[in-house]
Amino acid sequence: MLLLTLGTAAGGGVPQWNCACPGCSGARAHPDRRRRHDSLAVFGEDRSSWFLVNSGPDITEQLETHAALRPGTGSERTPVVRILLTDAELDHTLGLLRLREAHHLEIYATAPVRQALRERLALDTVLTPYTAVTWHDLPPAGQTPAVAAGIEVSAVPLSTKRPRYAADAAEDDAWVVAARLHDPASGATALYAPALAAWTEGFAKEAAGADCVFVDGTFWDEEEPRRLAISARTSTGMGHLPIDGPGGTAGRLSQLPARCLYTHFNNTNPLVDPIAPQHGVLAGLGLEVAQDGMVIEL
Ligand code: MLT
Ligand code: MN
Ligand code: ZN
Repeated sequence: MLLLTLGTAAGGGVPQWNCACPGCSGARAHPDRRRRHDSLAVFGEDRSSWFLVNSGPDITEQLETHAALRPGTGSERTPVVRILLTDAELDHTLGLLRLREAHHLEIYATAPVRQALRERLALDTVLTPYTAVTWHDLPPAGQTPAVAAGIEVSAVPLSTKRPRYAADAAEDDAWVVAARLHDPASGATALYAPALAAWTEGFAKEAAGADCVFVDGTFWDEEEPRRLAISARTSTGMGHLPIDGPGGTAGRLSQLPARCLYTHFNNTNPLVDPIAPQHGVLAGLGLEVAQDGMVIEL
């Protein structure tokens, strides 16, 4: 299995259009610091078929950036696009609308995520006049896996955090999940968790057995959203465990045998500046900061 990071930013991207914080201004001055919304392309063993994990508002530019994701020569068009969703948040789903030129979209998601997209965002109503849409269940890890590009895909339930547009919907711990990707050919397993509200037992168990783990790097520390006045809530209160500090993910990730990479960076995170000292802290723990366009072979 081959993983290609199409983007590594949280909602808004880096820079965010209406923001002039140091992270956003830095990315305007240094285009190599720009980050698109977090998304992953996953290639199967034969490298000819692929699927996406999350489809944010940048998705068609992200597909266009990488030759392996472009259509074949001549009049061929990409016939089917398969997309796995880790949640129903706008930064992970707005790109579904941008894929309407496909002949067919196959969307893998848990029940609450499917329901939110179909009933609250009316995606079926909007997309069906343009493209065929098939919805697939993303089953819990351990159950009969769904298969895309020869990879077994499943969900590790993480939290009941609902998108703001579905705040009154019923609680369900599959609102936010980690995507578990297992390649039966190589035996490798990857976890993709761009929103991690709590270090659950289920996540700890799957992470301990994985070869590669992508984790929520939205905020560096618990107080960052309040200190920078972007929210009245803490990082954990916003559904994102911070990287640093006593309840942070860095200490736990450093204990894992897996290759661990942070993704889903908010523009307030000091890590969006490549010379920030926080990079040294993570390097000392053996942890990586994902960049757009990374290729990982497992
Ligand atoms: C999040 O990651 O917390 C959400 O995507 C927030 C948002 O973009 O509204
Ligand atoms: Mn997000
Ligand atoms: Zn900013």
